[in-house]
Amino acid sequence: MIVNNSIDISEIVAEYGLTDHLIELDEVGLTVVSQETLRLSDEWIDRLRDALLRVGEARTGVSFNLATGPSANIEGRPSQTGQMIFSHLVHEDQAFIDVLTHPVKKALMTYMLGDGHRLAVSDGWIKWQTPDAWENEVTTGFHTDQSMVPAPWHWRVPHIANMNWTLTDYTRDDGALAYVPGSHREGRLPEPDEALPRAIPVEAPRGSLVMFNGALWHGAYRKKTPGLRLTMLGQHCRPYMLPFQDFKGRIPNESFEHSEDPEYLRSLMREDETQLRVGPMPVPPIA
Ligand SMILES: [Fe+2]
Repeated sequence: MIVNNSIDISEIVAEYGLTDHLIELDEVGLTVVSQETLRLSDEWIDRLRDALLRVGEARTGVSFNLATGPSANIEGRPSQTGQMIFSHLVHEDQAFIDVLTHPVKKALMTYMLGDGHRLAVSDGWIKWQTPDAWENEVTTGFHTDQSMVPAPWHWRVPHIANMNWTLTDYTRDDGALAYVPGSHREGRLPEPDEALPRAIPVEAPRGSLVMFNGALWHGAYRKKTPGLRLTMLGQHCRPYMLPFQDFKGRIPNESFEHSEDPEYLRSLMREDETQLRVGPMPVPPIA
């Protein structure tokens, strides 16, 4: 029986054949689950991809072409690095909510973070060919997702864990996630220039789920090819931490009613949380 706090994930692990993925999360700190193992249709992935493209276009006024990239220059940092992150996606489309309750994601997240973990961010990532003026080998520097908690960390009990859904093929030249296998066991941040020589890319086809430990050293390679790299991502945190985006009380009832796992969804959104208030804290009068 595989129990992390009160939730028993054995059934899902057996049904989907996830034992090797659990071992990989222990030893490597990252695992890639295939579309076949996830039992997801191409249409399911298309729905997520198209929703992300819609949000990107609505928020920037620029259209994104899968083969050629953005239709116009986006001022500021995106034009320097060739990428843009779109936050708070759960408010944009039911697809971004449905992705949170997939049984495999639930089991692997529970394996890393235990019972009662929360959704910390709901983001989408649109990345295009890295401009020549950007000279670095990486477009996202090496870091860990739980660096807000001072090291040392114990790899078995990460404070944060991440899910990345690949909505386009991931190769090194396509600007894939870069990571250092086993680095989560070091329990610390990398020193400057320490991670890149030891890093390898996540090479995965579209429709894969990448799960990793919040202590894992990771970044992303520059994108050498034209077209888009698309990702839906979501850091999750343990229940003693506050999520980086506040979803509590902001998800409409219909979203829970349409969910295949409403109880888990409510827990992800902190709807069962009783210690923290929604809205402004009352201020006592000054005597
Ligand atoms: Fe990260």
